[in-house]
Amino acid sequence: MNLKPIQLFDPKSSTFTYILNVPGSPDAVIIDPVDVHWERDLLHLQRLNLKLTYVMETHTHADHVTSAGKLREMTGAKAVVPSGCGISPADIQLRDGDVIHFGAHEEIRALHTPGHTSGSMSYIWRGNVFTGDALLINGCGRTDFQGGSAEALYDSITKKLFDLNETTLVWPCHDYKGQSVSSIAWEKRHNARVSKCDRAAFVNYMNKLDLPKPKLIDIAVPANHNLGLPHGV
Ligand code: FE2
Repeated sequence: MNLKPIQLFDPKSSTFTYILNVPGSPDAVIIDPVDVHWERDLLHLQRLNLKLTYVMETHTHADHVTSAGKLREMTGAKAVVPSGCGISPADIQLRDGDVIHFGAHEEIRALHTPGHTSGSMSYIWRGNVFTGDALLINGCGRTDFQGGSAEALYDSITKKLFDLNETTLVWPCHDYKGQSVSSIAWEKRHNARVSKCDRAAFVNYMNKLDLPKPKLIDIAVPANHNLGLPHGV
């Protein structure tokens, strides 16, 4: 069965949060929750009679603060993060290929997709891939901080994500143009950053972007290294 996640949105940072569940089972997983929405997200879980088992992060976000620590505190869920992201208080540090099990038979496979940050991971579940800021709809994440690398991002997208089944649905961490979901087939053919240029042209383009620093980076990155909780907690 090809199930879709529940998709939630933070308009301030244009961040998507995802709840994964299979109807008939109480167990749920949340990916990339945002600090200010922890109550909203808990209300969704309560409304649907779901029990949160894992809170997962795709990477250390620079533009918003996670609610992973708060949700862990409120529900007893385990915090799951990529091992290369410096989020030391998490319960589980994932390596490439690791699998998280939840519910009766659910499997979420971790795919290391560095480039936006060196530790970034994508998560694959039932024909869906949660790409964090690696692959966006008709775009990709920036590569100019936190160990970012345009070369690594090009390889992550073209050699790992584009190697997934073309019917796989792509659920990004952000969208700034009102789009919500895409597929590997669409992005392979139409993604403006990667579908029509080779590695050298992509690297050249990304390295010349010269984007302003994210407003919250100096607050968000240290907070997210502690699952969004104040340090010392
Ligand atoms: Fe990011």
